[in-house]
Amino acid sequence: MTDVATTGFEVLFGRPPEVARDAPGRVNLIGEHTDYNDGLVMPIATPQRTRVELAAARSDVVRVWSASIAAARPATYRLSEERRTGEWVDYVQGVTAAMRTRGLALHGFDARIESDVPLGAGLSSSAALEIAVVRALVEAFALPIDAIETARIGHDAETGLVGAPVGIMDQMAASLAAPDAALFIDTRSLEFEQLPLPSAAELVVIDSGITHRHAGGEYRVRRQECVDSARRLGVPALRDVTAAALAAGTLPPPLDRRARHVVTENARVGEAREALQHGDARRFGELMNASHRSMRDDFEVSTPEIDALVAIAQAQPHVFGARMTGGGFGGSVVMLVARGAARDVAQLVAARYRAERNGAPAILIP
Ligand code: GLA
Repeated sequence: MTDVATTGFEVLFGRPPEVARDAPGRVNLIGEHTDYNDGLVMPIATPQRTRVELAAARSDVVRVWSASIAAARPATYRLSEERRTGEWVDYVQGVTAAMRTRGLALHGFDARIESDVPLGAGLSSSAALEIAVVRALVEAFALPIDAIETARIGHDAETGLVGAPVGIMDQMAASLAAPDAALFIDTRSLEFEQLPLPSAAELVVIDSGITHRHAGGEYRVRRQECVDSARRLGVPALRDVTAAALAAGTLPPPLDRRARHVVTENARVGEAREALQHGDARRFGELMNASHRSMRDDFEVSTPEIDALVAIAQAQPHVFGARMTGGGFGGSVVMLVARGAARDVAQLVAARYRAERNGAPAILIP
């Protein structure tokens, strides 16, 4: 019997692929829940990537198959008839809909998708898929789309047809980040800058194994709280709130805490950028720790299990700092550790978390 997950393009579609493109997942190092407030973020690409092989079709029919699902048949739809199904193919439909809205000339196509970006671990497998699909289409149909427009198309797919009210960080990271340098992004101007990690440091990422069922709903609530806070403070976005305006104390709880997280987090990203410019791993680690406290106490997007995992990580020797990464209520924890110590630290932290909290962690990096 052949393993369905290894079914190749030719077996699926009876001809070879014409193009193959890929895109990474992302780990956010610092700058959480700031992107939809026009603020600052600093993700980095994962070594794990999503790959798309694709061949143009004569008709307007799209056939697409994913090795992660390994269904018996490809999902099928017609261009201009994209509609939400609640299935993974919506990410592809969202991309073609967003590209058509821009007036880009597409034909139908066959595509095969394969990914080692883990699903549900907070590493943005969805952005990796969107960006890999955009890249494959750009190449197959010779479209004049640059990396920022690629990110915008992925973001439109996600907020539009898929219907998740996210910021643009993940798509910018999948389109522009590399695995060895932090990507500082101003999400208002979309200006960005690559900043290498300090030579004395490397990353560890551990998936907590927890996915919060209500994370989508909580994300919406936080986003709305930020909109309400900005309106009450008379600014276009929380990006524009100064520390002085915050200190004036006109926001009722919990909006005061939500706004404080965003304002202090933006400041921390600015400081983290300076720390990287000086190769200062220790300072960067302190800022990660402070970011986690702020997410836990002010933005309230952590959970007791995640806090325990972060505390275990922060207590280890050779750890500069640790925090939850991504939207919250579960997912992964990122740590900055002394170069050469990553493997040992990762195993130690995972073992402690398993023993102390009965957790089911998975080491994603290294
Ligand atoms: C999710 C969203 C991002 C961002 C983070 C929180 O990953 O997709 O846009 O808002 O949460 O920082």
